[in-house]
Amino acid sequence: MPACAAALRLLADESRLRILHALEREPLTVAELTTVLGLGQSSVSGHLGKLKQAGLIHDVAEGSAHRYRLRDDAPPALRAAWQAARQLSREDPVLAADRAALAALRAQSSRDWVTRVAGSLHREYAPGRTWESVAYAVAAAARLGRCLDVGAGDGALAGLLASAASELVCLDPSPAMVAAGRARCAESGLPVSWVEAAGERLPFPAARFDTVLLLQSLQYVEEPRQVLAEAGRVLAAGGRLIVLTLLAHRHAEAARYGHRHFGFRERDLAAWVRPWSPAARTVRLPPEPRPPRFQSLLLIADKPHA
Ligand SMILES: C[S@@+](CC[C@H](N)C(=O)[O-])C[C@H]1O[C@@H](n2cnc3c(N)ncnc32)[C@H](O)[C@@H]1O
Repeated sequence: MPACAAALRLLADESRLRILHALEREPLTVAELTTVLGLGQSSVSGHLGKLKQAGLIHDVAEGSAHRYRLRDDAPPALRAAWQAARQLSREDPVLAADRAALAALRAQSSRDWVTRVAGSLHREYAPGRTWESVAYAVAAAARLGRCLDVGAGDGALAGLLASAASELVCLDPSPAMVAAGRARCAESGLPVSWVEAAGERLPFPAARFDTVLLLQSLQYVEEPRQVLAEAGRVLAAGGRLIVLTLLAHRHAEAARYGHRHFGFRERDLAAWVRPWSPAARTVRLPPEPRPPRFQSLLLIADKPHA
């Protein structure tokens, strides 16, 4: 009985009910609650203190502020009393006004954030805005057709590529990589074929693929010129080779990662594919932010339609 009476006393307050309804929508700081409810800061803090002490809410430090949220593990009597009070009060017009104030606060903070990061968004963290998620979104618009990934490694990118290809063949000369790649694809149910072979001697007939990819693998091969010639051979007319590799550099660190070539000059890559792709182009990508600031290079070589 005392627990029930205490729960009813705690909830028999309009401000506390408004706070609980607001926190049910989303976790909020004292400052946000003050704005939304139009109450004084000390009044809001006092109510939050009581609700927290009773075990109905808790808070998490966020910078110099604290963000309050409802507890999933509140004492059963208190939880039941709050559910009953919630039902009885939820149509109250004052709560509709609080909801509108909360929506206005969100809209304002959204505008504030957008204005603050304008011009520096590339340096800012925005939840979900990772290069990986962007790559998946862009892949959804890509049409790779029958795709060969040369130097596919352990299939870390197979899920991404398979989403854009009608057929994906992953090739790598390393037995360990191929075994790991096969296991990864089998586990995630990806329809990918694996072939253990070197890029210099592709075990495929001419014109077998619509797209050939070399993603940070050209610097590992023994004969890069031969690999690019083989890529041209297995491409169908109208197909495309995309090479992502490193621009020529002098960073000794590359040896630590097993590189056989310290990147490539743009004119060499273009010359090596010229026999079958006269209009091939290269694109320098921005240097990495961390030292020694490796810089990547894209080679895009289209095989003309017959
Ligand atoms: C850094 S990994 C890149 C893996 C994958 N493309 C990725 O981005 O996750 C480089 C790969 O090139 C492969 N490689 C080495 N020599 C090769 C060759 N001659 N032909 C094709 N791939 C080769 C290595 O076995 C290794 O798996």
